[in-house]
Amino acid sequence: MKTLLYIDGTVRSESRTKELADYLAAKIGGNIEYLRLSEENILPMDLKTLCEKEKLCQNKDFDDPYFKYAVQLASADEIILAAPYWDLSFPSAVKAYLERVCIVGLTFYYSNQGIPVGMCKGKKLYYVTTAGGTITDEAYGFGYVKALAQGMFGIDDVLMIKAENLDVFGSDVSKIMSDAKGKIDELFI
Ligand SMILES: Cc1cc2nc3c(=O)[nH]c(=O)nc-3n(C[C@H](O)[C@H](O)[C@H](O)COP(=O)(O)O)c2cc1C
Repeated sequence: MKTLLYIDGTVRSESRTKELADYLAAKIGGNIEYLRLSEENILPMDLKTLCEKEKLCQNKDFDDPYFKYAVQLASADEIILAAPYWDLSFPSAVKAYLERVCIVGLTFYYSNQGIPVGMCKGKKLYYVTTAGGTITDEAYGFGYVKALAQGMFGIDDVLMIKAENLDVFGSDVSKIMSDAKGKIDELFI
């Protein structure tokens, strides 16, 4: 059975992003590993953790708990990353997670030419997001995750599922959400 890693970067208990990602996860099925970032408390790297990490990497001590997220990502068959659109991007817990899983020797390595080569087994990542207004520039949220997935992890197939304008006065939120679910349905016909 394939393993679906569902990384939940949402924060609010009534998250619309989570509603869409849950819907997608149920469609994909398989063995779902659910990771709620707000409960993991992955801290940004400081000098102490950077030094510790570099030492562990030099010793190839990849059984250390520090690497558990990178090991999990590298072995997943498919990935969902649920991340609300915050400040043109996503919540900082998502960035802290991504920082934690960029590990030479686990999720990628450098070729002799210095180019990252992916080491992740999975070839598909779904980026699920919702926005209060319109996503005016995809570069800093979805675009960044796509570049990282394709350029570092070797996850070639990266697609975005989105619902926009949810906080715009007068918006028909239930229609926007059901349209987004309809787009998800179309992926599985
Ligand atoms: C901290 C924060 C920053 C936000 N920044 C933006 C933004 O830059 N552009 C936008 O359109 N909406 C922005 N929003 C609105 C959210 O994108 C919107 O409410 C979204 O649906 C929230 O997702 P959720 O329901 O999964 O929590 C922001 C909301 C919060 C709480």
